[in-house]
Amino acid sequence: MKKLSGRIITIERTPVFLGQDVLSSVDRFIRQMHLGREGIFILADKNTRKHCLSLLMENSGVMADAVILEIEGGEGAKTLATAERLWNEMLEAGAGRNSLLVNLGGGVVSDLGGFVAAGYKRGISYINIPTSLVGQCDAAIGGKTSVNTGILKNQVGFFYSPKAVFICPRFLATLPAAHFRSGMAEIIKCALVGDAGLWRRILHHPVPGLLSLPPGHRFLEELLTSTVNFKNRIVNRDYREQKLRKVLNFGHTIGHALESRSLLDPGAPLLHGDAVAAGMICALFLSTQKTGLDPSVNETARKYLVDGFPPCKADLDSIDRIMEIMAHDKKNFRGKFLFTLLSAPGYPLTNISCDRDEVAAAIQYYIGIVEG
Ligand code: GLY
Repeated sequence: MKKLSGRIITIERTPVFLGQDVLSSVDRFIRQMHLGREGIFILADKNTRKHCLSLLMENSGVMADAVILEIEGGEGAKTLATAERLWNEMLEAGAGRNSLLVNLGGGVVSDLGGFVAAGYKRGISYINIPTSLVGQCDAAIGGKTSVNTGILKNQVGFFYSPKAVFICPRFLATLPAAHFRSGMAEIIKCALVGDAGLWRRILHHPVPGLLSLPPGHRFLEELLTSTVNFKNRIVNRDYREQKLRKVLNFGHTIGHALESRSLLDPGAPLLHGDAVAAGMICALFLSTQKTGLDPSVNETARKYLVDGFPPCKADLDSIDRIMEIMAHDKKNFRGKFLFTLLSAPGYPLTNISCDRDEVAAAIQYYIGIVEG
């Protein structure tokens, strides 16, 4: 294969190209891999169609005739009903087994698009071009695809890997500040569970500076490279999340429940990263109780997260509701709440069982912090 531009990290046989110029390699990759012989379909949401499609098209000739599939923005679009609508649109447009789906968007687009690709005619090829920070550092890599069921997140899906992922930080210039912040929560998660040195380097950056790093900034590229490399090490050893991959769920056990709960409220739901930041505050507290995390480490991390991320709506009355939602989570097992906790930054422990009282105490701790 001719050299394609960008740093290449291979995750579960999927090349991940990372760099400012990676879009110039997309056409060559598609041709070299003989993809899209029966047409190319681009899945975008309303926002990425408006703000990101032109940058992709400027760099691609092979996509000039692609059929654009559009969805609404946001988690609410990640449903079986949307997938069915997209399958019908692809059938009507004549998509075949050798068609290619290009997912241009954030985590919702890559989760849903991967799911659509996995199901269409029992599986067609797809590539991910993540445009959000959550997508670039996490969601678009590792082959997890899913839709939500009701308010429960990611309950139905497949492990089904893309043919390639192209991570171009230039897309981040189109991202609203709140969505950039949301992605930073996933980067902080990777540092806390996998890279104590990276966590220390993050702490050298005051929160406002970290949350406003411009797309071309060297530290942002370092953060992206480190998190993609970290995910690479995890996913290559445990693609199907039997054990090790669960480290990536740090902050997600309570975070997902808060995110699901917010779907019941009127107005915009919580952003994924904001919910994960709240979930990490709870998980750090539980780590001091259950896995020996030094309280001063908890304090530093908690302060950083509280300074950086908005409080999530949770009140004492909603603790039961949050735990009810958690009971459906696939991360939990036979009535026990299973957490990924830390004994220190870089030292995660998976499947730590916590009972209802311990979980309630962690949520109360969070409520006390954001209200105090
Ligand atoms: N986003 C968590 C994982 O890919 O396992």
